[in-house]
Amino acid sequence: MPVDQQWPEVNQAFSKQSSHFDVDDSSNPVLPLWRKRIYQNVENFLKPHSFILELNSGTGIDAIHFASKGHRVHATDLSGGMIETLQRKVTQLSLEKEISIQQVSFENLNQLNGEFDFVFSNFGGLNCTSDLKKVTRHLPSLLKAGGVATWVIMPRFCPWEWLWLLKGKFKMAGRRWMRTGAPSHLEGHYFLTYYFSLSEIKMSLPEGFQLIKCESLGFCAPPPAATQFVKRFPGITRFLNRLDQLLSSRFPFNRWGDHLIVTFKKIS
Ligand SMILES: C[S@@+](CC[C@H](N)C(=O)[O-])C[C@H]1O[C@@H](n2cnc3c(N)ncnc32)[C@H](O)[C@@H]1O
Repeated sequence: MPVDQQWPEVNQAFSKQSSHFDVDDSSNPVLPLWRKRIYQNVENFLKPHSFILELNSGTGIDAIHFASKGHRVHATDLSGGMIETLQRKVTQLSLEKEISIQQVSFENLNQLNGEFDFVFSNFGGLNCTSDLKKVTRHLPSLLKAGGVATWVIMPRFCPWEWLWLLKGKFKMAGRRWMRTGAPSHLEGHYFLTYYFSLSEIKMSLPEGFQLIKCESLGFCAPPPAATQFVKRFPGITRFLNRLDQLLSSRFPFNRWGDHLIVTFKKIS
């Protein structure tokens, strides 16, 4: 499928997923812990009362968290279902002043108005684009001077996925290295997912932007998909989680894992 034609499939897949996204998220034994680690990381860079642009916000779990901490959020997503779910939650929680919502692809951020203190993208939404520059080209006009962006994005090098080699699943083990995208299947829809090394992410940054931090999630800790392992081996999981936190900010482990938390700043 030509890369630009996959957006209707992506929209439909995530719209179907939106009806059970929050339940899946909170019942996963890994995701809530990882969100906490992401929030701790982001808090180092978020100034009080920031105006945050959230890309691929999904059902707004993070937008609602940031609103509860006194920030204002403009939450955006491609998927109609995700946007409807977020809209319902914002109305129920009376958060209309704190959270505004717009259905837009992160490749079309020229449709946005305003300048932001912080741009945030969580849990691999950006892995749906084949070319990060289609997103980063909009950042100079969207971020205020000194503004910061944090992206939680899936890299190419993920030791946990090598375990598939032991099961003879060679294609799965090598999927993150496919230059033309890895076939993904979600809710009966097919699209391509793209993975990016830290150097590729750095190369996509516009002039005047500088990488200021990179931390990994799941270099050795079991990833969200390894629910069976986590349930079967709670002691080993606890040990691996502790080791993961110890290594996650140190070179070279900070660039290998299931996800990376990459933070960069507009310096000029
Ligand atoms: C795995 S979900 C993560 C949602 C949310 N960030 C979270 O952490 O709960 C990925 C999200 O990326 C969104 N997405 C995929 N392609 C997109 C695009 N081109 N523009 C904006 N959002 C997109 C999907 O609709 C979905 O909501």
